[in-house]
Amino acid sequence: MSLFRKKNIAELIRTSEKNGLRKTLGATDLVLLGIGCIIGTGIFVLTGVAAAKYAGPGIMLSFVLSGLACAFAALAYSELSAMVPVTGSAYTFAYVSMGEVVAFAVGWALICEYTIGSAAVAAGWSGYMVGLLKSAGIDLPTAWTAVPADGGILNVPAIVITAFLTYLLMLGTRESARLNKILVFIKLACIGFFLFMATPHVDPLNWQPFLPFGWGGVATGAAIVFFAYIGFDTVSTAAEECKNPNRDVPIGIVGSLVICTVLYIAVAAVLTGVVPYSSLNNSEPVAYALRAIGMNFGSALVALGAICGITTVLLVFMYGQTRVFLAMARDGMIPQSLVKIHPKYNTPHVITIIAGSVVAVLSGLLPINIIAELCNMGTLFAFILVSIGVGVLRRTQPDVHRPFRCPAVSVVVPLAVLLCGYLMMNLPVETLTFFGVWYIIGMIVYFTYSRKNSTMASKPAEGSSDD
Ligand code: ALA
Repeated sequence: MSLFRKKNIAELIRTSEKNGLRKTLGATDLVLLGIGCIIGTGIFVLTGVAAAKYAGPGIMLSFVLSGLACAFAALAYSELSAMVPVTGSAYTFAYVSMGEVVAFAVGWALICEYTIGSAAVAAGWSGYMVGLLKSAGIDLPTAWTAVPADGGILNVPAIVITAFLTYLLMLGTRESARLNKILVFIKLACIGFFLFMATPHVDPLNWQPFLPFGWGGVATGAAIVFFAYIGFDTVSTAAEECKNPNRDVPIGIVGSLVICTVLYIAVAAVLTGVVPYSSLNNSEPVAYALRAIGMNFGSALVALGAICGITTVLLVFMYGQTRVFLAMARDGMIPQSLVKIHPKYNTPHVITIIAGSVVAVLSGLLPINIIAELCNMGTLFAFILVSIGVGVLRRTQPDVHRPFRCPAVSVVVPLAVLLCGYLMMNLPVETLTFFGVWYIIGMIVYFTYSRKNSTMASKPAEGSSDD
């Protein structure tokens, strides 16, 4: 019983074709889908934290650095998702390229990405909501709006939004493509409005010194604002519903990434240009910067836009985590009972409630930067494995049809691995330690449960290969 038994690509594609998901999405839909999942807490909150604590105005370079790491990983994602256009994303890619134990490791990293990432997004939502209510004259007590590390007891607004979205997901709410388009428009309008209003107030003196914490600060900043880019990989999960996945998925992934990178660098430049970077370590830096230049109404508008935008990211993330659990349960990696389908709502209500509770507890008690760092660690690890998977498949299965080929693969794959690894190494030691513990738990689960219960163990001959 090999640890590296693999799923067969042709078999997967046949199964997905039988599923008969309607193929309705085009390249523009995918770019919008990407932007919908990408722009959220990262740009609206973490930019301020990372600039104030680590990078200073050099945060612009941090965005370039982590954008590059994502761009290389995105090219790898594009090759795999055009080649294996089925649901399951990085987890499925690893199953076909490197075998079961690696697939499990990727799935375990994705659980970390989505669950812990949701908690960070919920915490970001809370910051803007509390700020907006304050502008409207409703001052909620710090004890119930901040986590213990920030002088509070519990971040109740973060718990409330998590509970509400968990409830919606249990009822089977999925963000509709139409609603996504409206929210993407609101988000882009909100960022455009900020740039338009704040740019004339930029004082270049605020960019001096440009690197107050040196290159080390830029690198740590990059490891944190990497969070702002997470979500582009979601585009690959829609490959099955694409009219022309071969062309549209790469355009969707790379296109949404490029648009977000340009916007992020612009926001970072203006944000650190209008106020001293050291004042940005607060829970709603973009709204704060507008208030600081006397635009109270504009600040409230931007806060409202940010709240809408962050809500959609949270919904996608919380939905995404149930999808990872479903994919893993379908393969026997985790118990089926966890993904039991509700008889009336037809949703995996048990895992939705469990995962929602974990998100609520994390966002209620832990500081946003700590949870974002953990999420980044899991995601970077998954990106590294996916990139390696592209290289492995080029060698082991050179003849499989690749509708999109990652250009200069012998350069892009090593660069993706190196840059993502570099960002991982710039995360705090505690984050690395936590991640190590998370993986030890994961491997215990794999060797005591998943390996024996995997569907590949019971039906090794069907659509599998052990090479
Ligand atoms: N990229 C997403 C955000 O910034 C996770 O909220």
